Amino acid sequence: MKRVVLLALAVTACQPRAGLDDVSADPGLLGSALPRGFLWGTATAAHQIEGGLDNDWSVFEAGSFPDGTPHIRNRDRATVATDSWNRFDDDLAAMKALGSTTYRFSVEWSRLEPRKGEWNDAAMQRYRDWCVKLRANGITPMVTLQHFTLPRWVADAGGFEGEAIRGDLERFTRRVAGNLKDQVDWWVTLNEPNVYAVQGWLRGVFPPGKKDDTVTQTKVIAMMLKTHARMAQALREVDDVDADGDGFATRIAVAHHVRYFQPATTSPLDVAIAALTDDYSNEAIPRALKTGRVLLDVPGAITIDEVVPGLAGSIDVLGLNYYTRDLVRTDLGSPSFSTLTYRKGRATSDLGWDLYPDGLHSFLVRFAAYGWPLVVTENGLADRSGTLRTPFLVQHVHALERALRDGADVRGYAHWSLMDNFEWAEGYDAQFGLFTIEPGTLRRVPTASVEPFRAIGANIPR
Ligand code: FCB
Repeated sequence: MKRVVLLALAVTACQPRAGLDDVSADPGLLGSALPRGFLWGTATAAHQIEGGLDNDWSVFEAGSFPDGTPHIRNRDRATVATDSWNRFDDDLAAMKALGSTTYRFSVEWSRLEPRKGEWNDAAMQRYRDWCVKLRANGITPMVTLQHFTLPRWVADAGGFEGEAIRGDLERFTRRVAGNLKDQVDWWVTLNEPNVYAVQGWLRGVFPPGKKDDTVTQTKVIAMMLKTHARMAQALREVDDVDADGDGFATRIAVAHHVRYFQPATTSPLDVAIAALTDDYSNEAIPRALKTGRVLLDVPGAITIDEVVPGLAGSIDVLGLNYYTRDLVRTDLGSPSFSTLTYRKGRATSDLGWDLYPDGLHSFLVRFAAYGWPLVVTENGLADRSGTLRTPFLVQHVHALERALRDGADVRGYAHWSLMDNFEWAEGYDAQFGLFTIEPGTLRRVPTASVEPFRAIGANIPR
C-alpha cells in the first residue's frame, strides 16, 4: 500500500517539467537500497529558527547597503523566526511525522556565551533536553557548533579575521561537549567555510558585509580550518562517551558546501576558470582536511600554503551540503574571474538555482575517494509552490542510491529544511521547508512532500 501511494505521488510529481530529468528506477522502492542504520532526517540552524537572538546577524539585519537597499530582502528580521526556542515539541512532532531518524541543528554561541566567559546554563540545559527528547524518539542528534553567526563580542574582536576566535571557539566547544557528551556523538564543527567567506567578503551579503576582498576571504577560510582543527581536538578530548553504542564516542564532520561548476562554453579560458573555481571552492577544503595542508590560491591576489597542526585526521565523516550547478563564464574584471549563470530551459528553484541531481551523485563518488564516510548534511530547494519539492527529493535520493552502488559510503541524508525559516539575506521569501509556517499562529503545516519523505524513509532497512 505504502509503495503504491509513493509511486502514485512520485508519478504525479514527476510529470515532465523543464529540466528535472526522468527517474529511471521505480520510485516506489526508493530508500530500500540505503544501508541499515542510514540516518534520515532534516537540518536547521539556530539563527534561522529559534528567535530571540542577539548576535552579529541581529546587527546586520537592521542595516542597509550604501545605495539604501536593506541588507535583508523585505527588511525581514530573524527576531521571532519560527520561534523554535519555545516550540521544540512542535518541531519534534514534525520530525516524527517525517519518520526522521536524525536531526541536524545548531547550538547558538551568542545564547550560550553572551559575553566572554559568561555562560547561560539554563540555555545549555534546554539544548540538552532537546537531545534527550530526540533520542527518546529514535532521532539521532547531529549538533553543529557554528552555523554562520557570531556573538557580538566575537564579531567586535574581528571574528574569523582575528586570531582570538581559535581559542574562543575551542573553549566554547569544550563547554558544549562537556554538557552534551552523553547525548551526542555526531558533531559538525563549522558550517560551510567557503560560503561564509564568499558571502561575507566577496559578495558582501553576510556580515561583515565586505565586498570584493578575495584576500581576506581566503584568509578567513584558512582561519576557519585552523579553528576547526582546535575544535575537533577539543571534541576528541572531552567527548569520551559513546552515546549511541556504535563503538564511536565522536563522529566529527565539517558541513562542506559543494557546487557543481561547469564551463559555460568550451573556450579554454572558461574551462580553466571553471577548474580554478572548482579547486578553490570544492576541493581545497576536503584536501586540507585530509592532508593537513591548507592550499588556497587566487592568482595575482593571494596564495596560502600552510600546514596546520591537528588538521589531518580531524574529521571522521565529510558532510556535504549540495544544492545546485553553476555555469562559469570568464570575467577577468571580477575578483573571482567569473560570472556564474545557469542553463536556460531547466527547472530552477525560486532562487534561480539549477536543480541538478546528477551533481549529487558526482560529488558523493568524487569525495568518497578520500576514504571518509559521507553524510549529506543539507540538500533542498526554495519552492513556494511546492510542486518541485517531491520530484527534487526523489531524484536526489535516487542519485544518492546510485552513488552507493558506485561505491560511496554514504551514512545519512538531512533535507534542508524541516520547515520554512529565515533564509539569511533572502529573509522569509525563500521557502525551503517540508513544513510551512502558518503566519500568525506559527503552526507547522505539512507540505505535500511530507508523505513521500516519510515513505522513502520507511523503505530504509532496519
Ligand atoms: C546553506 C546554509 C543553510 C541554508 C541553505 C539554504 O548554504 O548552510 O543555512 O541557508 O543554504
